[in-house]
Amino acid sequence: MDLLGEAKNLLTSNSIIKKNREGNQEIVFTAPSPGTYDQQWFWDSCLHSLVWLKIGDKERAFREIKSLFIGKGQRKLFPHMIFWNYKKTDPYWLIFDRLYPTDNYSEIIQPPIIGYPLLRLIKEGQEQVSNFAQETFQYYSHLAKYRDPEDTGLLTIVHPWESGLDSSPKFDLELTNTKLFRIRQWRRMKRLLKEFGRYNWDQREMALKSSFKVKCVLTNTLFLWGLDSFIEVLDILKFKEEKLQLEILKKKALSGLIEKCWNEEDGLFFDLNMNKKNEQQIKISTISSLIPLMLDIPSDMKNQLISHLTNEKEFWTRYPIPTVSLSEKSFNPEDSPLLWRGPTWVNTNYFIWLGLKKHKEDKLADEIAFKTKKLVEISGFREFYNPFTGEGAGAENFGWSTLVTLME
Ligand code: GLC
Repeated sequence: MDLLGEAKNLLTSNSIIKKNREGNQEIVFTAPSPGTYDQQWFWDSCLHSLVWLKIGDKERAFREIKSLFIGKGQRKLFPHMIFWNYKKTDPYWLIFDRLYPTDNYSEIIQPPIIGYPLLRLIKEGQEQVSNFAQETFQYYSHLAKYRDPEDTGLLTIVHPWESGLDSSPKFDLELTNTKLFRIRQWRRMKRLLKEFGRYNWDQREMALKSSFKVKCVLTNTLFLWGLDSFIEVLDILKFKEEKLQLEILKKKALSGLIEKCWNEEDGLFFDLNMNKKNEQQIKISTISSLIPLMLDIPSDMKNQLISHLTNEKEFWTRYPIPTVSLSEKSFNPEDSPLLWRGPTWVNTNYFIWLGLKKHKEDKLADEIAFKTKKLVEISGFREFYNPFTGEGAGAENFGWSTLVTLME
């Protein structure tokens, strides 16, 4: 199967070209899945850009990212979604997205990974990246300023959507598994947006007062990955002062993650619930617990994470890596409108694969790459897959599942 050719066809047919709101610039982005996700999503676009590079279309890879900057405009933080494409009769608009303060974008964030595609782009000779260096520096600095009021080094997410892992059971918190569970989940998503309206969408106030305040391990791991890559960009561009400042943030975030989120007894990383006394760890074993494999963590931690990853009673299914450990009551491998409660996703497999490569665990990395390719060969580019049967589920023609072409 010509995976790269298929990936190119998919990303090309998901591409949307439009004028910006002022009508003076052309934007182009890859919709994650036409008909299901038609807007420009932040971390999706960052990942799509990497696949455009792999395809060899550097210009297109750059424009995907450039459109994020155009859409962001003067805002300090990148929004998780830019609404280039809404009809105001769309159900999603009517239920949720009309609650944001403008019709242009959401006012919440997504995992801050943009440093990585910027690094890849500059290494591929896309010098125009330098035009965005100052703005990206501001972005990372503002994240730390607004989203860490307790000065722990770790970012707080104020809405489950900010993690990109929407309904992961680690966010169930006060919601229990009752009959009305699904409705209560969606109500909470909406209620939080209304709550932020009362804080005038002030980012710092949201991080201080939100009724949902979590230091998410995946968000902070990807924050560190983005920062680390962007520090390299600053080095290439010789931005000495900015580089020094971000190095301080990076050091603080890494020690915060290890000191506060690592659980020695369980050998896993856990999120912190900041609305509980003593920043309580949320002890639910999910893909997020393993994601720090992407970072420079001590080798005994790495080994413990790998032993969970390869345990058949936890994450080592026929088609790994399920997004929730099999040992959790909430694990559900089936197709479900509540996302991230068990099935295997290609982007998280890609992140773990990168981590294993970094730690020279090549054999295991190859095995995950091989099984991820199998998934796509059997079921096509779907949003997620059953970790036992490989059956595809969720949205079709799903953009970031083409990341599998990078896993070699
Ligand atoms: C789902 C995912 C989110 C992703 C979005 C668009 O909401 O949970 O992470 O960004 O779809 O693909």
